[in-house]
Amino acid sequence: MPPTSFTCYLVSKSGEDKPSAAVTELPIDQLPAGDVLVRVAWSSLNYKDALGATGHPGVVRRFPHVPGIDAAGIVEESASGHFKLGDRVLITGFELGAPAWGGWSEYVRVPAGWVVPLPASLSLRESMIFGTAGFTAAQSIEQLIHNEIAPARGTILVTGATGGVGSLAVAMLARLGYRVAAATGKADAHGWLLEIGAAEVIGRDQVNDTGTRPLLAARWAGAVDTVGGNTLATVLRSTDRHGCVTACGLVGGTDLALTVHPFILRGVRLVGIDSATWAIERRPALWADMAGPWRPADLEKFVADTVAIDGVAPHVQKILAGGVRGRGLVRLSGEE
Ligand SMILES: NC(=O)c1ccc[n+]([C@@H]2O[C@H](COP(=O)([O-])OP(=O)(O)OC[C@H]3O[C@@H](n4cnc5c(N)ncnc54)[C@H](OP(=O)(O)O)[C@@H]3O)[C@@H](O)[C@H]2O)c1
Repeated sequence: MPPTSFTCYLVSKSGEDKPSAAVTELPIDQLPAGDVLVRVAWSSLNYKDALGATGHPGVVRRFPHVPGIDAAGIVEESASGHFKLGDRVLITGFELGAPAWGGWSEYVRVPAGWVVPLPASLSLRESMIFGTAGFTAAQSIEQLIHNEIAPARGTILVTGATGGVGSLAVAMLARLGYRVAAATGKADAHGWLLEIGAAEVIGRDQVNDTGTRPLLAARWAGAVDTVGGNTLATVLRSTDRHGCVTACGLVGGTDLALTVHPFILRGVRLVGIDSATWAIERRPALWADMAGPWRPADLEKFVADTVAIDGVAPHVQKILAGGVRGRGLVRLSGEE
């Protein structure tokens, strides 16, 4: 029987008031239109969700809004020939949770073109331990490989290393045989970063040079930058000849103060990552890599928090304060 109502984390705003959020039950016909209705088992907590949960205009175009850029669950209705009742699927990015209604909800209804079949070797929960963060880390690594940065080239730097993207990048790179330097602002997380695969841990300040030299000593064969701002500028200035740096994040700022010297004197490549729009045709193969040869030895090590839908609010503040280590999961039906 199709459901008649569903519970979600609804962010509302009235007039000039600040946005507010509450767990709310709504009739099922209030879900957006789409080909596939999915009963969500697990979602996750991401930086973009924290922005969505506070009504940030860069993420929320219209109120009311349901955050959650990730969802994994079971198909309950399908008007698409690609999916049938009972299929186990995952959705990350596209418009899920930003600007469309997202996965902090018992149900999502989405276009079939957003849906990826769950790899057989992953549980629904494990797919959300990766979530958008792991998928973004995997895309960053795929770009390093595409730009011929093999393990023998030297050390790969990962910034924001204890965050969701950073920590999964550290672990997957290590699994692929790279030597990884992890940069973090958390003095108490060095041991954990070494455990998940870093060969070296450095302080965040070491990749935040405020001097004016256009180039710094060449230290990195490549880098996965999740921070942006002056951190990204410093990383580009300290990347070795023909190295490759991927950029996905903005927690450290959106401006990029730089000369062209890293590009024209060292041939450094800067590759932007927009995981939300990564083509649907390419997704199953990358998820198969993540579930198979790239998979970190112990995915459970990355789970920092598991919360029910009525427990997300404190985690939103933690994410915005940069206090995250690893991944946060949101339990909906909780099916494995
Ligand atoms: N482009 C895309 O497709 C895409 C996809 C996913 C995420 N993102 C972006 O990537 C970034 C990371 O995402 P996430 O999910 O990993 O976030 P997260 O789990 O909240 O982690 C962010 C990490 O960045 C570091 N950090 C926080 N504030 C900082 C600051 N002011 N200066 C320097 N470092 C700081 C912290 O790590 P340490 O304490 O270890 O330094 C923090 O744990 C976010 O900006 C997010 O929006 C982009």
